[in-house]
Amino acid sequence: MVKIAIFASGSGTNFDNIMRRIAKGELAHIEVTALYTDQPTAPCVTLGHEHHITVHTFTPKSYHSKEAYELDVLAKLQDEQVEWIVLAGYMRLIGQTLLDAYEGKILNIHPSLLPKYKGIDAVGQALNNGENETGSTVHYVDAGMDTGQIIAQRTCPIYQDDTKATLENRIKALEYELYPEVIQEIIQ
Ligand code: GAR
Repeated sequence: MVKIAIFASGSGTNFDNIMRRIAKGELAHIEVTALYTDQPTAPCVTLGHEHHITVHTFTPKSYHSKEAYELDVLAKLQDEQVEWIVLAGYMRLIGQTLLDAYEGKILNIHPSLLPKYKGIDAVGQALNNGENETGSTVHYVDAGMDTGQIIAQRTCPIYQDDTKATLENRIKALEYELYPEVIQEIIQ
């Protein structure tokens, strides 16, 4: 078993999808030690409890520095002997402390065809720019914002009558296939 930690900040549907696939045996030889979140009241926390796994909640602003926050996170990761970190809607830049400890072992999924539309509201950016396609990218995490080496991408169309919500749903449907496939291939 390869031990992974999933980091999320919001609705946690990618986290939920990964947990379901593990339960169904579609993602093999992977154990999620815990859900890590920087948003103690986010819906992902409830999902973590529903999956009966440990949920580590952190309040970054209660620390005097990013390093102090990440050292606390790192202590938990080391306790659990986590080998890989999987970011699934974790809306915070990974700092040097975690990058040094998990070099080349942090994955992220981002809802655009990187290198286009890095950062926040990638879905809205693609929509407002009049693109006729967008998609999702899985990449390694480095010190930049959505700049790490690209591993895999999947595309979907943007329709004239799309709203941010309809497009977000179409991208998430792609992500639910893409992320487990990459996790299986890379981590295992
Ligand atoms: C996903 O679409 C993911 O690609 C995106 O946040 C969403 C999380 O949804 N990540 C980023 O924007 C990272 N820059 P979820 O909480 O329902 O899995």
